[in-house]
Amino acid sequence: NVFTLALADEIDSSNTQLTTRAAQGAPHGLVLAAERQTAGRGRLGRRWQMRLGAGLTFSLLWRFDRGLSGLAGLSLVVGIAIVRALREFGVPVALKWPNDVLLDGRKLAGILIELSGDALGPAAVVIGIGLNVEAPGEVDQPVANLADAGCKVGRNALLAALLNQLAGVLAQFDRDGFAAFRDEWHQLAAFIGQPVRLSFSHGEPADGIAVGVDDSGALLVDGAAGRRVFHVGEVSLRAA
Ligand code: BTN
Repeated sequence: NVFTLALADEIDSSNTQLTTRAAQGAPHGLVLAAERQTAGRGRLGRRWQMRLGAGLTFSLLWRFDRGLSGLAGLSLVVGIAIVRALREFGVPVALKWPNDVLLDGRKLAGILIELSGDALGPAAVVIGIGLNVEAPGEVDQPVANLADAGCKVGRNALLAALLNQLAGVLAQFDRDGFAAFRDEWHQLAAFIGQPVRLSFSHGEPADGIAVGVDDSGALLVDGAAGRRVFHVGEVSLRAA
């Protein structure tokens, strides 16, 4: 078995804790699940808040053979693992680029990936996942939860299914890169072929039709000025 599971009642953030442990040599496959986070973090410097026991909150340390420069598209691939796991329980989720998981167009789960290592040597990656099981977390957009969707699966079964899918998907990604997942991502993604607006921390938003992703997971958007390529980073997307 590739995983070692550690449980915490209360910590600041499972991503923060696991990043520290990774620097201290923690093993590949270490999972830290938290009942409660006092300083849960989201993408783009946002907070991730969740009522006690209402969600599934965990981080996974994965040591890749690939270096940091080969990890483009990783966040999309983690999304695929989550969708596959939830569909095992009949929950019809979809993906929003780069890595939100949507249920009925509302956010069900978020992913926060933090990287360390060098460009070429093996990269150590902390993959944090927060999933609303009973009550929504406090986020910047409409949220969904599994209970409202009629899904009664327990958190342990959910975690097991997620880790199972992650193990397969991450191993294949390490071997083959994002290109091997591109078609599946297109099938699971919301917004493809639709008008979207991309917002940045600085500068004007960009509007256009989301046509898909390239082999590095970058989003391709056709706008008035032609096709533009957006890399995962300081950008967020919504339907326009
Ligand atoms: C986002 O949608 O902005 C990402 C949210 C990620 C939240 C998870 S909860 C477990 C892990 N620990 C954190 O502090 N954040 C991630």
